[in-house]
Amino acid sequence: MFAGMNNCITILTGAGISAESGLGTFRDEGGLWAQHRIEDVATPEGFTRDPELVQGFYNARRAQAVEAVPNAAHSALAKLEAEFDGEVLIITQNVDGLHEKAGSQNVLHMHGALSVALCATCEHRWEAPLVMQTSDKCPSCGAQATRPDIVWFGEMPYGMEQIDEALQRSTLFASIGTSGNVYPAAGFVAEARRLGCPTVEINLEPSEGCSLFDDSRLGPATQTVPAWVAELLKP
Ligand code: OAD
Repeated sequence: MFAGMNNCITILTGAGISAESGLGTFRDEGGLWAQHRIEDVATPEGFTRDPELVQGFYNARRAQAVEAVPNAAHSALAKLEAEFDGEVLIITQNVDGLHEKAGSQNVLHMHGALSVALCATCEHRWEAPLVMQTSDKCPSCGAQATRPDIVWFGEMPYGMEQIDEALQRSTLFASIGTSGNVYPAAGFVAEARRLGCPTVEINLEPSEGCSLFDDSRLGPATQTVPAWVAELLKP
């Protein structure tokens, strides 16, 4: 009767799940990394060199994210969490907050969140204003060292220990809308496999690590994810 509680579905999500909510991905044609240099806007060194440019980049993304509405794929994952007989954990690389807007609760933001500001001096965190400025002071220590709470290249993603534990107890690992270019996230499928956990990839096209998945569902997330969730919830 309680067997279901041993079920744990761990779902890694990336920019592709938010594409149909109008938010651009990074590596697709015309994506964010075709318009901006990673070194300039997504590294600590870039921030030190030109904080105004970096704040401007994330202010623009925050403005878009605030307006964005979750799509059928986000909603299907929230439904899965609410109705599945067991645990559902979303590990997201996305910083847009759309999983929470759709109603998901068990969400780990391994690359941070646009909605949070971080003090680089004392590590205090608070709700980011819509427009962050380099002159903003930390409300806790007063330092003028305010930055978006985004994990940049060269920094350690959040929750790695928790992720490791989750992979150990997972009975199914799914990867949705991520190209498999950025580690450590891109390595989770290999780890899940090593632990004997079945793996499924749900993406527009085969990702870098596609051969490591046991199962693959190709197509737009708003179609593939609700169909996959319906299968999982079938009595
Ligand atoms: P990418 O832009 O690298 O990959 C997006 C993936 O989504 C691609 O494989 C697309 O084929 C797929 N895709 C696009 N539209 C889709 C749709 N409608 N339905 C399903 N799939 C679709 O984005 P990520 O893999 O998330 O990190 O990128 C990983 C990290 O790299 C990001 O978190 C970010 C970036 O640099 C940082 O900024 C630290």
